[in-house]
Order: sequence, then structure tokens, then C-alpha cells
Amino acid sequence: MLPQGKIIFSGIQPSGDIHLGNYLGALQNWTLLQNDNQCFFSIVDYHAITIPYEVAEMPKKVQGAALDALAAGLDPEKCVLFIQSQVPEHTELAWLLNTITPLGELERMTQYKDKTQQHAAAINAGLLNYPILMAADILLYHAELVPVGEDQAQHVELTRLLSRKFNSLFGEYFHEPKVYEASVPRVMSLLDPSKKMSKSLGPNHCLNLSDSPEIIKKKIAKAVTDEGGGGGNEISGGRNLLNLFKMLSTDKPLKQKLEQDYRAGELKYSEFKPLLAETIIKVLEPIQTRRAELTAKPQKVNKILMSGRDRARLIAQKTLQDVKAKMGLA
Ligand code: AMP
Ligand code: TRP
Repeated sequence: MLPQGKIIFSGIQPSGDIHLGNYLGALQNWTLLQNDNQCFFSIVDYHAITIPYEVAEMPKKVQGAALDALAAGLDPEKCVLFIQSQVPEHTELAWLLNTITPLGELERMTQYKDKTQQHAAAINAGLLNYPILMAADILLYHAELVPVGEDQAQHVELTRLLSRKFNSLFGEYFHEPKVYEASVPRVMSLLDPSKKMSKSLGPNHCLNLSDSPEIIKKKIAKAVTDEGGGGGNEISGGRNLLNLFKMLSTDKPLKQKLEQDYRAGELKYSEFKPLLAETIIKVLEPIQTRRAELTAKPQKVNKILMSGRDRARLIAQKTLQDVKAKMGLA
């Protein structure tokens, strides 16, 4: 059952090509949540600059993320879609929250530890303070639910802590947001099913939303299947492909049959792989068509983002005013 009547916030980093893991793990879920909830979705460019990046590429990536989100089905009539850096209250609240965040909490964050290893030559304070900005994103809108993958749950936990701490220091104001976990199995890499599908593994590990039918067919043809029969629930190449099919196809009887075949070790990949490729192509086709339509209308996309910014700002300004007053600031 999907939640209803909740305030929901989530963010997506403008990191270039979006893959099927991002779509199934995040965007698709957002398009479902927007129907019966008050949703705020932000392209979090201030988070993206905490690791080294190409300045010239950033505007394209932000625009690309907006196009992907809209093409995937976010509807500006049903949700507020905006660019984080266009609502200055995010960094203002982040500063205020900085002053109540225990340093030790930031230093023990798993993502911080991972990223300081990956970018050892470029560890900046933004990387450490990243979860505070995320808490500001969430708390500005009084979000009750935060749809994110499990890798972000620790940051939401910190948001809850900051909410409690703020309330105890300055008086009841924030409530504690919760993670909303969609029941989407992790989409694993096509070439190394022990790892989740991720851009950093390389293009042939991922199915991108922008991949043409030919590329999809090729990538699926090359995807690893099971060594020695497989057939179980544990993640393997074959299980990953079958899970993908089950997430994307609407043909229940066929899904059941393929699951049975798989369990019996009788799935014929020579037949299943082309079927899976066709299914993926069919799901991506309308998304790609919408994306092409929107790409041809940059003013329309800009208008959506400006309207999102204005709607977000109205709420963000009120929250910031309240918070400053509670903290004894003008
Ligand atoms: P990222 O670009 O890795 O920060 O991911 C953005 C969103 O997509 C997060 O909510 C992730 O949980 C989700 N996501 C990323 N990769 C996968 C994957 N391979 N399977 C399922 N969800 C994913
Ligand atoms: N850190 C999140 C990610 O990398 C993106 C994000 C930023 C976010 N602010 C947020 C997600 C607020 C949920 C709520 O995926």
C-alpha cells in the first residue's frame, strides 16, 4: 500500500546518465507517490559539488536530471520539482543546523568514510557536512517520509536526531521524518551481479534510460547468467535478469512460468534474453519519447523549474523564519 496524504521529500543528484537502477529504485516510485501525497523533489546540485566536478558540465547535468525526472513521469501539477541551489533557504537552514550537529555524528557516516577514501586528495568540509544539508532539505518542508535507498538511511537517521535536538534546545517545532523504502530489489550490474548497477562500474554494467533498442539488445546479450544452473533466490546473473523482467513486465502468467523454469534450472536464456530486451525497450520507449519532446522545449522545462522554485521557496521561507525566531535570531 502506498502512503497517502503525507509530505514527502527526496533529492536526486545531477550525476549524468540515469540507469534502470535509479529509475526502478527511485524515480518510478516518485511518480507513484506524487498522486496522493504532497511531494517535493529536488535536483540537489549543492550536494553534487562536494566531490570534484567539471564546471562546464554541471548546467547540462542539472538540466538533464530535470528532463529525466519529467520524462520518467513526474508531473509538475502533482509535485514540486526544483533545483536545490535556487532556494537559498537550504544552505541557510544547513548553517543553523551545523551549530547543533555533533562532529562525531558526521565523522561516523558510512558515505563520508567511503567518499573520503575515493577522493582522498580532495576531502573538503562540504563532504563532511553533506548530511546536514540533507537534513535541511528534508526539515524545511516538514517532510514526513523520505523515499531513499538504504545507503541514505543513515542520513535520514541523523535528520531525526537533529530534529529532536532542535526541539529540545529551542522548543517543539520539527517532527521526525521516516525513510520510506520502496519494495524494489536492488538492480545488479549486468556484468558483475555481486555489485549493484552503478555508473561508476562502467557503461556496459548499466542499462541507461537513454539507451537505444540496439544497445539494449547488445547489453542484454552480453549480460552474465548463472554458472552451474543457478535457480535459487540468491543474487546471480540469471536471478538479476529474471528480477528485472518481473519488475518491468505486466504479464503475470508469463512471469510465473519463467520463475518456475528458472527454479527448475530450465530457463532458456537464448529465448529469455531477447524477450527481456524487448520488455525493457517497451518500458523505455515512452520515457525516451517524452524526453525528446521536452528537450525540444527548454523554455517549458525552465518554466516548470521556476514555478517549482517559487512554490518551494514559499514554504522554505516560512520555516526559516520560524527557526530563526526560535533560535533568537532576527
Ligand atoms: P545514486 O545515483 O546512486 O545516488 O542513486 C540515486 C537513487 O537511485 C537512490 O535512491 C538509490 O537508492 C537508487 N539506486 C541507485 N542504484 C540503484 C540500483 N542499482 N538498484 C536500485 N536502486 C538504485
Ligand atoms: N544524498 C541523496 C543521494 O545521494 C540525495 C539527497 C539530497 C536527498 N538531499 C536529500 C535524498 C534529501 C532525500 C532527501 O541519493
